[in-house]
Amino acid sequence: MNYTKSKELQKKSHALIPGGAHTYAKGDDQYPEMAPGFLERGKGSHVWDLDGNEFIEYGMGLRSVTLGHAYEPVVEAAYRQMQLGINFNRPSSIEVECAEKLIGIIDGAEMAKFAKNGSDATTAAVKLARAYTGRDMVAVCEDHPFFSVDDWFIGTTEMSAGIPKSFSELTVKFHYNDIESVKALFSTYPNRIACLFMEAERLDPPKDDFLHKVKQICHENGALLIFDEIVTGFRWHLGGAQKYHGVTPDLSTFGKAMGNGFSIAALVGKREIMELGGFQHNRERVFLLSTTYGAETHALAAAIATMKVYEQEPVIEHLYRQGERLARGVNQSVQEHHLEGYFGVIGKPCSLFFFTRDLNYQPSQPMRTLFMQEIIKRGILAPSLIVSYSHTDSDIDRTVEAINEALFIYRKALDEGYEKYLVGSPVKPAVRKYS
Ligand SMILES: Cc1ncc(COP(=O)(O)O)c(C=O)c1O
Repeated sequence: MNYTKSKELQKKSHALIPGGAHTYAKGDDQYPEMAPGFLERGKGSHVWDLDGNEFIEYGMGLRSVTLGHAYEPVVEAAYRQMQLGINFNRPSSIEVECAEKLIGIIDGAEMAKFAKNGSDATTAAVKLARAYTGRDMVAVCEDHPFFSVDDWFIGTTEMSAGIPKSFSELTVKFHYNDIESVKALFSTYPNRIACLFMEAERLDPPKDDFLHKVKQICHENGALLIFDEIVTGFRWHLGGAQKYHGVTPDLSTFGKAMGNGFSIAALVGKREIMELGGFQHNRERVFLLSTTYGAETHALAAAIATMKVYEQEPVIEHLYRQGERLARGVNQSVQEHHLEGYFGVIGKPCSLFFFTRDLNYQPSQPMRTLFMQEIIKRGILAPSLIVSYSHTDSDIDRTVEAINEALFIYRKALDEGYEKYLVGSPVKPAVRKYS
């Protein structure tokens, strides 16, 4: 691979943009030295960089592009809508149409409010829970990596510069599948916790009826249960992880897969809570998600078109099937190279990640970087192993082959030291460390 143009433009991007990119997870410090610096074009599961190199991509668009890049029915719906104008002084009927579609799909949705990104939706959920309960504390799941760019969450991470301590002190933590940690919070902070905020599932499935129990404990203590479905929504099941696990939360948030990469997210939930954001009641009104671009019509058209594809085609079955095919192939390579415990795939087939550990079985950023470097060399761009509806059998088979070759190098690097094989510095960890 030749990255001449990318390397040249990276100098300029860092001079003009703090971090060189507008999204943390896309930054140069998240990728090996020998990686494409700029992606210019995508079709289906393939992308092309500034230098014309082609890659099969995984976890596309930070897991938002679930159907595939430039997916025609979605692009066409957005384009048709754009030609009618995208933003007016009063709402458009498509706002009602999109709300009706989403509410028809998600069990826990009696009302919906749209936003442009997931963080706005999750922050709005927290604000609504605080207003509804009249309490100020929020309990977040410590084992889930990301909920929002806003202070109530980022203040609890290792990158909390610029956030007053008094904000982050209102956020407390519990552990997934640890019901005692949930009970302990309610006994330490009686009548102070407005909501429990979590993904219904991430890597490990719920154990011992954890989700039902959490819901019951929340309600016994006057708090709301909020599921962040920004990753799980339209992926675990058409109706989200709440449908998959049969637990309906009070509020939930959707984004990413909902618009196949278009900027659209949603807060949904029970009417009696959601309606505080309106004015057909005599309680204090919550200033809930009001932004200039909140209901850009083409993003709503994209979301409606995307949701129709999920309803009419076997998208989610495909994600599970291809994820299983990939996991099977990778697991075989892991055995072949005697890498059990050092490298592996984790998570649900529809949402696969990989772990990279050193000789002491400790999580290793250098080994992660080396693995990424070796698959990138072989035409695979994969910060995770999350597939889309566009990943074909042949994409998966090519990926398994590339990973098999990369794991041969991984084994040698474990035995001989990664320094011999890695070009440049190890990647930086994600914003929040988690298990
Ligand atoms: C589970 C989860 N919640 C919330 C967010 C925030 O979404 P956005 O980046 O659209 O603000 C993310 C983003 O990665 C996420 O993974």
